[in-house]
Amino acid sequence: MAHPEIHAPTEQSIARAADILRAGGLVAFPTETVYGLGADATDARAVAGIFEAKRRPSFNPLISHVANIEAALALGVFSKTARLLADKFWPGPLTLVVPRTPDCPIARLTSADLDSVALRVPAHPIAHRLLTAAGRPIAAPSANISGRVSPTTAAHVTSEFEDGVELVLDGGPTEHGLESTVIDVTGEVPTLLRPGSVTREMIEELIGPIEIAGEGSPITAPGMLASHYAPSLPVRLNADAPRDGEIFLGFGALPAGAEGLTLSTDKDLREAAANLFAMMRELDQPGSTAIAVAPIPKTGLGQAINDRLRRSAAPR
Ligand code: TXA
Ligand code: MG
Repeated sequence: MAHPEIHAPTEQSIARAADILRAGGLVAFPTETVYGLGADATDARAVAGIFEAKRRPSFNPLISHVANIEAALALGVFSKTARLLADKFWPGPLTLVVPRTPDCPIARLTSADLDSVALRVPAHPIAHRLLTAAGRPIAAPSANISGRVSPTTAAHVTSEFEDGVELVLDGGPTEHGLESTVIDVTGEVPTLLRPGSVTREMIEELIGPIEIAGEGSPITAPGMLASHYAPSLPVRLNADAPRDGEIFLGFGALPAGAEGLTLSTDKDLREAAANLFAMMRELDQPGSTAIAVAPIPKTGLGQAINDRLRRSAAPR
């Protein structure tokens, strides 16, 4: 594959971008903050493609973008406070972290297996048209390789990616150039997780005092959230086969006689990443002594998978 195609936003190119998203592909698009690298948030395999393309060494929770408040209300549980913020600042550069609804279709990989989801209704007209055409939540972190600066033009995006991103919608330079403000409204006191152009003052004027992550708030910085799911069973890594009483999480065909599941029969890392959280949960049942996990290659997406596995095996 070569650098992604760049397209001016037309009826046709937006319809094509929406088709790519619905088919599980990656599309970069402008928002009022930065360009996002989008994938169908309900398709774990598509979302694994984002981590692969960005070469992220760990799975962090991603923001799901929707076209309007109604779509967001189907995905998350909005408290009174959350609703006030949504009504005031959406569409716009504010992301709300809310509990997921019981039948929320957002993939576990998108939210890094948290019980909350991050939602945003962007104000950019092209983003709005794309989200409307896609008709489903679109996970989109900034469209840059991990560790590099966030892209504010379509050319930044195309120069960055050689593989995996099919199309970039060119909306010119972005307005803010700074990622959206992220506020956690899952608990009693709203907590600012990431500052942005919707400021603390603007928020407090509407809903009263909030807490700031890292400044004595019970919620730590994003990505280090204590509520991350940890299995109840002990986890044993780099296992070639299960021992007596263990249940096995394989990579490739299951060893003869082993009980359990395989992350990918074909040893496909993208499929493995897509299956990881759901399979860990499925195997984490009383009756086994531990979950034994096969060795996973440390290349590409394997880095993020190994990072997550190491955390689940860490002493608690
Ligand atoms: O401006 C933006 O927000 C851009 C454009 C493309 O919309 N998107 C963006 O997405 O920055 P992303 O996925 O890189 O931002 C994720 C941020 C991180 O700080 C992450 O920790 C936080 O949102 N986050 C996502 N889901 C969360 C959750 N369930 N709980 C706590 N924090 C969460
Ligand atoms: Mg970024």
